Amino acid sequence: MRNKTKVGIGLIGYKFMGKAHSHAYRDLPFFFETGVVPELRAIAGRDEDGLKKAAEKMGWQSYETDWRQLLERDDIDIIDICTPNISHAEIAIAAAEAGKHLICEKPLAMSVKEAESMLQAVKKAGVVHMICHNYRFAPAVQWAKQLIDQGRIGKINHIRAAYLQDWLVDPHSPYAWRLNKQLSGSGTHGDLAAHIIDLARFLVGEFQSVVGMMETFTKMRCSSDGMMKEVDVDDASVFLARFRNGAIGTFEATRVAGGNRNANRFEINGDKGSIRWDFENMNQLQLYLTDDPLGMQGFRTINCTESCHPYAAGYWPSGHIIGYEHTFINLAKELMDGISKGYSPSPNFEDGVNNQIVLESVEKSVQNGSWVNVS
Ligand SMILES: NC(=O)c1ccc[n+]([C@@H]2O[C@H](COP(=O)([O-])OP(=O)(O)OC[C@H]3O[C@@H](n4cnc5c(N)ncnc54)[C@H](O)[C@@H]3O)[C@@H](O)[C@H]2O)c1
Repeated sequence: MRNKTKVGIGLIGYKFMGKAHSHAYRDLPFFFETGVVPELRAIAGRDEDGLKKAAEKMGWQSYETDWRQLLERDDIDIIDICTPNISHAEIAIAAAEAGKHLICEKPLAMSVKEAESMLQAVKKAGVVHMICHNYRFAPAVQWAKQLIDQGRIGKINHIRAAYLQDWLVDPHSPYAWRLNKQLSGSGTHGDLAAHIIDLARFLVGEFQSVVGMMETFTKMRCSSDGMMKEVDVDDASVFLARFRNGAIGTFEATRVAGGNRNANRFEINGDKGSIRWDFENMNQLQLYLTDDPLGMQGFRTINCTESCHPYAAGYWPSGHIIGYEHTFINLAKELMDGISKGYSPSPNFEDGVNNQIVLESVEKSVQNGSWVNVS
């Protein structure tokens, strides 16, 4: 590892996603050989005390109290954006102009227009870019992709995808930036539906048309200053979709489905078989094949921990499962490979734009009460 080129990371926003990404960079060299090796050079935030503590705890060499200072540093090669959605475009465009590679949290932006300007900026600067749709990088999801590409389940007819959480089911749950359209762009839709849209684009193909509905069940919530604030984003987003390859799909994203802490699930049915995945059992893939002998047919459970499964050989012996944080390590591996070889691994900003187009098409269909072509 000593001979490998080190690349300096500058990470902005050090809470939930900042912690997940920091951990991924720290652990990546432990599990995988990559062309370049990440070094945790600096985090940026606004509160010096918090920054100091976070830098120490997560292993960052330094910190900056304004993210713009990261762009001026020659020892920073990659900017990692883990801030609320409103800031993604401004930071990404400035970072690209400063010649930094980029990894940005999802959703890429507040709108298609903003996402497109981010894509334009990274293309113009010729930097490597990725968007953090980490669920793609569960070994079982990557294995599902390989089985589908091999034609194991045949021509796909259906996808049934749901991303269910319940942290807002209590009407007394406090107001947060995620409930403010000006800071987040949308609610559950951009937060959770964005992930299942990405999984559908990855596994099934491109969307053709959508029709949806959204609901906000709790319209006022109490903020930390004791004031009641209006929730102007959706608690739940549900939509139907047609795909360009003829498949049809149903999508449900909600933060008020009691008992579902982080239930990101899909079932895909083809004319030769079906695949099921549930993040809460993320190592397992359920597979049904129509050419199994009669009397033996049924869903089998594949524990995707064998050395033949994507990423699994980097971790533990067969049957020794991995978790949430490993999806970020696997994504970071792709980013490092992309940087060492000079390409932008998928999902990248182009995927981010396409995802945003689907998100916005659903929003338009909700406003119009009719189907909208995804173009
Ligand atoms: N990939 C996933 O599964 C996943 C999960 C959660 C959140 N996200 C995305 O990650 C992003 C961040 O979400 P989070 O859950 O980590 O939020 P968070 O509220 O936990 O953390 C956001 C951080 O950004 C900081 N911040 C805000 N504005 C800033 C600015 N101008 N300069 C510097 N720091 C600033 C905040 O102080 C905070 O530390 C969002 O885009 C969200 O959609 C993705």
